[in-house]
Amino acid sequence: MKTVKTVDEVRAQVREWRKQGLSVGLVPTMGYLHEGHASLIKASVKDNDRTVVSVFVNPMQFGPTEDLESYPRDINRDAALAEDCGADIIFNPEPSEMYHKGFSSFVDMTVLTQELCGLSRPVHFRGVCTVVTKLFNIVKPDRAYFGKKDAQQLAIIKHMVDDLNMDLTIVGCPLIREEDGLAKSSRNTYLSADERKAALVLSRSLELGKEMIRNGEKSCAAVIAAMKELIEKEPLAKIDYVKIVDCDTMQQIEELDRPALAAMAVYIGKTRLIDNFFTEDI
Ligand code: PAF
Repeated sequence: MKTVKTVDEVRAQVREWRKQGLSVGLVPTMGYLHEGHASLIKASVKDNDRTVVSVFVNPMQFGPTEDLESYPRDINRDAALAEDCGADIIFNPEPSEMYHKGFSSFVDMTVLTQELCGLSRPVHFRGVCTVVTKLFNIVKPDRAYFGKKDAQQLAIIKHMVDDLNMDLTIVGCPLIREEDGLAKSSRNTYLSADERKAALVLSRSLELGKEMIRNGEKSCAAVIAAMKELIEKEPLAKIDYVKIVDCDTMQQIEELDRPALAAMAVYIGKTRLIDNFFTEDI
């Protein structure tokens, strides 16, 4: 498996595959790959003749006080994992390759970006939409794979592809958890041993919310209040948000009368973790 650094190299490889009539899948990542990414790569390898994994810590989607500098990076480890999963090429550009001097075009979205992580991270989704559009234009994949852990990101990308007539299929893949319930995330590496234990409060509170819904609770306020109460009992946890939104619009709802997403962002110490469930999956 090759690791390439330039847009020209990845384009030349994809052109070669296209000449042979092969289909191409793209798995966009920021690296420090874990089992969640592995499941995306394996899904792409199953559906497509060739798979490109991009590894790029995209500066544009980090706010000025966020963890761009400390975000974990290990391209050799990523390459080994991607190869084990059957990927054909890693695209690992430098920021200067993606954003040349004078770069000034952006892809932005209203409505879906205004809730949840979009509220706490105002520049985040503009950075995500811009880099994902660039990756789609560079690789021109038939399909691209995103995890349901970043549920708002997945909804935004599907909407963007539809709005802008992008010619590919977006495939959403299940959220992958550690055995004890913690959602897999590259940011879990920031957690100390005590924080790692405390972080279980996210999945525990989601389980409580699911249980209430299974038992017939229809009021979003009641479910949210119970989840927040549980999280607030954990001294190392600080809630950013706990919300229930419509799956398509990402706008808050009051009644559980349609497919909904229960989503949360919680700081454990300094680490901001996200987790969620779709009511359709419970
Ligand atoms: O989900 C991520 O890792 C990133 O937001 C993405 C989609 C690779 C864009 O940088």
